[in-house]
Amino acid sequence: MNGGGGRRWFDMVQPEAFDSQALRGALGRFATGVTIITCLDGSGARVGLTANSFNALSLQPPLVLWSLRLASPSLVAFSAATHFAVNVLAETQVDLSRRFASKVADKFEEGVWHAGLGGVPVLGGCAAVFECELQAQHEAGDHQLFIGRVRRLADLAVPPLLFQGGHYRMLGEIL
Ligand SMILES: Cc1cc2nc3c(=O)[nH]c(=O)nc-3n(C[C@H](O)[C@H](O)[C@H](O)COP(=O)(O)O)c2cc1C
Repeated sequence: MNGGGGRRWFDMVQPEAFDSQALRGALGRFATGVTIITCLDGSGARVGLTANSFNALSLQPPLVLWSLRLASPSLVAFSAATHFAVNVLAETQVDLSRRFASKVADKFEEGVWHAGLGGVPVLGGCAAVFECELQAQHEAGDHQLFIGRVRRLADLAVPPLLFQGGHYRMLGEIL
């Protein structure tokens, strides 16, 4: 059996042989949704970024996780914030995803935002929203891992935006 990448299933790449580009490439095979994660900084200003490291962690209690690169200018705000919101983007929100992954001066100028729990920005038109209280955070490698306890959620019947192989995508067929 030969996969699309030209490697056979038994051609495993050993730790000494892969670089960060190979690691990124392999990780990119894993399809994810796309979120904008938001909080307020110490002065009450809105902070947010595009993140696909979001994932489910626990159902009972309801916990979710995501990670932020340590070099991010948003690290100070998220480390100190008591709450954050995970806005799961709809497929119509790709422009917002690009905006929140950029260095634009005021990311929040676009989109319909309202204040959720703790005043944290919540985005209208999302596929889902998880409003969280920070439960724990850990430094791990070059990222800070955030674990949140879900305090409120919204689940809308709109198709989510996907990210895979470095490209935005839409849902395909149900198998
Ligand atoms: C699809 C996608 C997913 C991303 N996921 C993450 C992530 O999980 N964690 C992270 O730190 N940056 C992630 N980024 C990069 C940030 O969105 C980008 O670096 C942004 O500028 C960070 O905001 P900052 O300027 O406050 O650091 C992602 C970017 C894209 C396009």
